[in-house]
Amino acid sequence: MTAPVLAAEKINTYYGHSHILRGVDFRVMPRETVSLLGRNGMGKTTLLRSLVGLVKPRTGHVIFNGADITGNRPSFIARAGLAFIPEDRGIFPNLTVIENLTFAARPGRGTRPDWTLERIYSLFPRLAERRTHWGNELSGGEQKMLSIGRALMTNPDIILFDEATEGLAPKVRDEIWATLRQVAATGIAAVVVDKNLDDLLALAERHVVMAKGEIVFDGTTQVLKADEALIHRHLGV
Ligand SMILES: Nc1ncnc2c1ncn2[C@@H]1O[C@H](COP(=O)(O)OP(=O)(O)OP(=O)(O)O)[C@@H](O)[C@H]1O
Ligand SMILES: [Mg+2]
Repeated sequence: MTAPVLAAEKINTYYGHSHILRGVDFRVMPRETVSLLGRNGMGKTTLLRSLVGLVKPRTGHVIFNGADITGNRPSFIARAGLAFIPEDRGIFPNLTVIENLTFAARPGRGTRPDWTLERIYSLFPRLAERRTHWGNELSGGEQKMLSIGRALMTNPDIILFDEATEGLAPKVRDEIWATLRQVAATGIAAVVVDKNLDDLLALAERHVVMAKGEIVFDGTTQVLKADEALIHRHLGV
């Protein structure tokens, strides 16, 4: 049996006294793209933050490539091959596009061809045109592309992507979805949070729905599409 690339095992995460994640079990298999869905405030971002070490679960474990990384520092987790793209993109405003792409770059472990600047530029021709611009000179869409490019340059085994297309114009959103499909095809596992259900149904093969810090659905595109009551109740469409 194949082991998950990333797993949360019964994690309970708190912000101060607020009990946010309530015994969450969550698995991602190698090469798998999973969508993480749910209404506002249900715990999606908190789950991603718990997985990458930005908040430490009070109980339970996070397992990455077979190792227990619960409570490890975010920088250590990132270097181990777990990339996180936060909603605010985390671009360095005073570094150029090239510098943003290269400063955290690290070689892969030979399981897939390494990402290079050339590959990133062919994925995002716009970044090639903008290579010497400062991070803060980029549009929102370009910053999003840069944050994806930067994550890929770390040659991760999995990318966690919060609010993938939030705040972007429809045309730019379509570009991001197309890119995510290309990235998924290279065999990197991914967890994608977004508000656009149709796009997520088209991208991911498995979908996880959260409500009030718990997982209330975990299933395939086909099963989710057929469950109108669940979609209405938890996804508000
Ligand atoms: N830093 C914080 N301190 C205290 N409570 C927080 C903090 N961040 C989030 N929360 C609370 O934790 C709960 C889960 O929030 P979280 O951001 O994980 O939800 P989400 O599903 O990502 O929502 P959204 O769709 O709006 O991004 C919410 O009730 C939120 O108010
Ligand atoms: Mg969120």
